Amino acid sequence: MDYKIKDIKLAEQGRKQIEWAEMHMPALMSVRKELKERQSLKGVRISAVLHVTKETAALVRTLKEAGAEVALAGSNPLSTQDDVAAALVEDGIKVFAWKGESEEDYYSNIKEILKYEPNIVMDDGGDLHAYIHEKCQSLKIIGGTEETTTGVIRLKAMEESKVLKYPVIAVNNAFTKYLFDNRIGTGQSAIDGILRATNILIAGKVAVVIGYGWVGRGIATRLRGMGARVIVVEASPLRALEAVMDGFDVMPMSKAAEVGEIFVTATGNINVISKEHILKMKNGAVLANAGHFNVEIDVKGLKEIAKSVRNIRPYLDEYELPNGNKVYLLADGRLVNLAAAEGHPSEVMDLSFSNQALSVEYIYNNRDKLEIKVYNVPQEIDEKVALLKLKGMGIEIEQLTEEQKEYMKQWKYGT
Ligand code: ADE
Repeated sequence: MDYKIKDIKLAEQGRKQIEWAEMHMPALMSVRKELKERQSLKGVRISAVLHVTKETAALVRTLKEAGAEVALAGSNPLSTQDDVAAALVEDGIKVFAWKGESEEDYYSNIKEILKYEPNIVMDDGGDLHAYIHEKCQSLKIIGGTEETTTGVIRLKAMEESKVLKYPVIAVNNAFTKYLFDNRIGTGQSAIDGILRATNILIAGKVAVVIGYGWVGRGIATRLRGMGARVIVVEASPLRALEAVMDGFDVMPMSKAAEVGEIFVTATGNINVISKEHILKMKNGAVLANAGHFNVEIDVKGLKEIAKSVRNIRPYLDEYELPNGNKVYLLADGRLVNLAAAEGHPSEVMDLSFSNQALSVEYIYNNRDKLEIKVYNVPQEIDEKVALLKLKGMGIEIEQLTEEQKEYMKQWKYGT
């Protein structure tokens, strides 16, 4: 069977969701029109590990219209939208994903999509790339893309240790990706996840954001915008200084743990909320993770010290601590925006996925020229995506005159 999903009968609802997403993705719809006309991916087999959302459906349908055959697995055991998965199967996409799959299912789904012997692979987080390098070295892969910061860090490590086997475009590193998806997208969707799981008031709360990369600063800014008193915890002196000058309180986690009421992790690192931190927290503290993997909060440690655990409502579990305090863990420490909500809004994914589609085409067109390394998205693609988005928003921008273009090339003009 060419798919494994929750329930094919959900397809009609999934189709409506995809339609709603596509209506808000004008840049990707322009890219689709172009790729379809060019049939630039005719006969190309693509296997992708991406969060199976209505926005990913818009991307996958674009690749298909360009002539590709696509197999898709989920990028997180909790992020698949089952109705969307069903609609994609009806569209002829080979989908292996469902919400609530086990870690074992997660990897067996990756194995399934690799049986189609892809020419190009797309990943979000680096698990697919790592799996291929460890277990499927015989596959003849032209190249791949990577959607997220965590995955790019892993790929750079593979490049550095000279084990990388094919060229990869770091979609994450496009200006039109990280500045909007990581910052503005997560800024909204992580709070969306926290609110859907808890329905608590943000205003007046002490919120602690751990990590001040693009994701952390998006969340910190939006929490402040909703009236929270925001503390930033950051290990990099440069980023910590930025956070201070952006007007946030900055302190180490050992201090923030004592005063915070809502904690959000966004570091890409392990155990940034440890059980020692949890034992210092106030009664009622809410813990959420916005990073790619479920390693940022020491969930295992929390489970070890807890006297009791109760599920309160979807994606909200109460842990009673030995000191009698209760803390509330969202989505079992998995990425809160995709587990407890629907991920970033379509308007943001419009940018990320236009970069993805054009990067896949670029890899295929340049398959004989690319070296085995991690590439950034070519600047022409990045600028094109920005222009398409602006056009979709009905915004015209300034054009330089010939005199101005010439001036920018000169070094002799001074005072
Ligand atoms: N990552 C974050 N939000 C997403 C979404 N809506 N679809 C796919 N991947 C995502």
